[in-house]
Amino acid sequence: MNSDKKFNFLYTVKSNWPLVLISGATALMLGSEIVGAVKKDSPKEEISKDSVNLWNPPSLFTDTELKGEERELVIYGEDLIANTAKYLGPKGSVAQISNGMNCQNCHLNAGKKNWGNNYSAVYSTYPKYRDRSGTIESIYKRVSDCFERSLNGKAPDSNSREYQAIYAYIKWLGKDVKKGEKPHGSGIPKIPFLDRAADPAKGKVVYEKYCQSCHGANGEGVPDGNGIGYVYPPLWGPNSYNDGAGLFRLSFFAGYVKSNMPQNQATHENPVLTTEEAWDVAAYVNSQPRPKKDLSKDWPDISKKPFDHPYGPYTDGFTEKQHKYGPFKPIIEKREAMAKAGNKAM
Ligand code: HEC
Ligand code: HEC
Repeated sequence: MNSDKKFNFLYTVKSNWPLVLISGATALMLGSEIVGAVKKDSPKEEISKDSVNLWNPPSLFTDTELKGEERELVIYGEDLIANTAKYLGPKGSVAQISNGMNCQNCHLNAGKKNWGNNYSAVYSTYPKYRDRSGTIESIYKRVSDCFERSLNGKAPDSNSREYQAIYAYIKWLGKDVKKGEKPHGSGIPKIPFLDRAADPAKGKVVYEKYCQSCHGANGEGVPDGNGIGYVYPPLWGPNSYNDGAGLFRLSFFAGYVKSNMPQNQATHENPVLTTEEAWDVAAYVNSQPRPKKDLSKDWPDISKKPFDHPYGPYTDGFTEKQHKYGPFKPIIEKREAMAKAGNKAM
């Protein structure tokens, strides 16, 4: 990396102000280009920029305005996100409609953790149009999707106390976020693409070194002993998320894992895995068997399938294999070129 050289050059420019003044606008333009280049090329700078102005979730301890029935709903909602299996898993006390995982397994700290797939932008951005369904989706529809895909089950009724509580909790979490805004640190971080396809064989080595101790040699996770849920959730096999879930897309899996796994070791600022390891372990885990969902109604406009949606048909001419493992840059570049050429059928 030559970002040090760029810093030195920038320093030279700064310490030679008379020169800069004489060359006027040209030097200023050059200077700002250099600053831009340093930012883009230096992951360290990007990450330190990432850790300021993060979302600050509300707290039940300090929120004295939240009272009565609404407060009870929010508290129950948080509990449902953190302990979904206890209420709605295979041995759930309320209903048996999901696979034993908790929403919190993927929406860390009950959807409050920055870079941990948090819920900060849900109340502010829904209802919204989504290409997967080709419809305007409510919060109810989006929550149902995760029940049916990530928890490989069924959604609770929209009138149930359980759904009302989840809604109240998500609304409360987003109460300080302006309509239409996505706070810094929301959702799943995007990581750089590789120039090659992600490699399941290399990913297996990563898995054995960094993941297997908790998630198990067969990705089966570690059950909690009373058959209700998991100490460590499964990553594949019959009790894991199905092939219609967000994490089945490599970019989501790799982005989530790089900032958050191995648990209690990796952080967004100090990841354990390299970018390559994150993509490769994603390829390994998502090449293992898992439940299947009927996806025939998804992506009604096939040109809107994400670059890493692994099931055709596509309009861009790339194979299912390349859409699953990459390399993704050629797909994205071709789509951009097609869009530029005004090819509406893309
Ligand atoms: C196996 C992992 C996993 C589990 C478990 C899971 N989700 Fe998700 N969820 C995702 C992924 C991946 C996304 C997509 C994130 C994105 O689009 O950036 C998502 C998105 C969402 C969104 C939309 C977020 C946004 O900002 O647009 C909501 C709401 C949501 N999930 C609710 C839930 C609820 C409620 C549960 C439990 C019933 C749950 N999820 C369980 C992985 C999971
Ligand atoms: C120290 C134990 C531990 C290690 C090591 C670990 N995880 Fe996890 N992982 C967890 C726990 C616990 C959760 C659920 C987090 C929660 O509910 O708060 C989790 C959740 C996940 C999830 C989302 C839920 C699911 O089951 O799909 C994925 C994906 C994941 N881990 C992948 C990995 C990968 C890949 C590695 C290796 C790079 C790894 N983990 C290493 C403990 C661990």
